[in-house]
Amino acid sequence: MQKILIEGGVALKGEVKASGAKNSSLPLLMATILATGEHCIRNVPNVVDVRTTCSLLRRLGIEVTMSRGVVRANNPGLESYEAPYDLVKTMRASVVCLGPLVGRYGRARVSMPGGCAIGARPIDQHIKGLEKLGAKVSLNHGYVEASARRLTGAKIVLDLPTVTGTENLMMAAALAKGESEIRNAAREPEIVQMAEVLNQMGARIQGAGSESIKIEGVTQLGPADCTVMADRIEVGTLMIAAAITGGDVLLRGARAAHQTALIEKLIEAGVVVGESEHGIRIKGLARPKPVDITTQPYPGFPTDMQAQFMALMVLAKGTSIISEHIFENRFMHVQELKRMGARIKLEGARAVVRGVKKLSGAEVMATDLRASASLVLAGLVAGGRTEIYRVYHLDRGYQKLDKKLRKLGARIRRSKARPPGTIG
Ligand code: EPZ
Repeated sequence: MQKILIEGGVALKGEVKASGAKNSSLPLLMATILATGEHCIRNVPNVVDVRTTCSLLRRLGIEVTMSRGVVRANNPGLESYEAPYDLVKTMRASVVCLGPLVGRYGRARVSMPGGCAIGARPIDQHIKGLEKLGAKVSLNHGYVEASARRLTGAKIVLDLPTVTGTENLMMAAALAKGESEIRNAAREPEIVQMAEVLNQMGARIQGAGSESIKIEGVTQLGPADCTVMADRIEVGTLMIAAAITGGDVLLRGARAAHQTALIEKLIEAGVVVGESEHGIRIKGLARPKPVDITTQPYPGFPTDMQAQFMALMVLAKGTSIISEHIFENRFMHVQELKRMGARIKLEGARAVVRGVKKLSGAEVMATDLRASASLVLAGLVAGGRTEIYRVYHLDRGYQKLDKKLRKLGARIRRSKARPPGTIG
């Protein structure tokens, strides 16, 4: 078990480059199921969820190696079509193997992902879409079992723009017989990259990034050869690290186009945001102005940035309202921030944040990936020492975030933590 120790109060300075996007890497790795041959995926972040995905691919019979951010996956043809509970329970996104397995092999047995800390996370839309494409889907003993001789193209209207649901169905339809359309599709940049890579593999997909994605099924796909985009959520997290500490940081290579909703809110809060061909430059200030946010599907304000933005608003000169409309339980960072002196009142899906002048370092507990990031950000600016326990949550989605922050001047390091409940 590890913990992160932070001595707050340093204004971050310098430049930093975000790693590859976790939420683009995971579906792209699953796309290797769709085609035999030697796939190559570059700029993959070395984070726990990527390693879990590679383990799942190996269970299916794909030979996967990862070195210095490059994943080589040799798919000789699968030996298994099952994503077992022991893997899926650690990472819900394993469900994204469902579409490619049914699309390419006509069969899949995937453990139903349980809920997770932030919500129930159902997959009814994934299943509805696969049934529309002609798959027979049943739930037996905690597993989703899907089969089809060959999927047939169909028009799918999603009840909501689910990200992994759109990815699953895009991959399933890529090898279906005939045309498909996914309406009310998710529009995230990771969806656009997924479509680009599938097309590079030989698929015929148009409209990714809009609410309607059209897919003309083909009979065979070739190996992927691609480079993962920068992680826009890590970029956003680092932008807030610069803002909250009153620093001056260049996010090298970052693209403002993927961050419009966040940038707009940072500017509203008084943060100076500049964009050049080198990336995005952030100049923070002592205390931000209060800003209300409501999380929405892309291109709205991303739910994955809600906890981090709340850390910034905790120090605002006034009261801000933070509404979480995507997940039903994504405020677990609130109690921990309050241990550091934050003044936050929860009212259902809303958090009323009354800004305070300063935070004080404390021992706090990470509860989920983005909550962990929020506590790191608060620790950077709190007076004294903050100790963050259960940092394995952070390591699921950030590659060496503490090292990146140290490079910008933060007094942050890891150390061994006594297992919880031990005395002395
Ligand atoms: C993806 O999760 C991301 N994960 C999440 O990032 C992100 O928070 C989320 O999209 C929203 O942007 C990956 O890409 C691996 P959804 P996903 O399906 O696809 C409901 C992080 O921190 N829903 O878009 O699981 C669902 O309950 C993670 O990096 C259904 O009701 O999210 C939620 O309320 C956390 N039925 C909403 O839709 C379904 O069949 C959005 O979920 C599917 C989803």
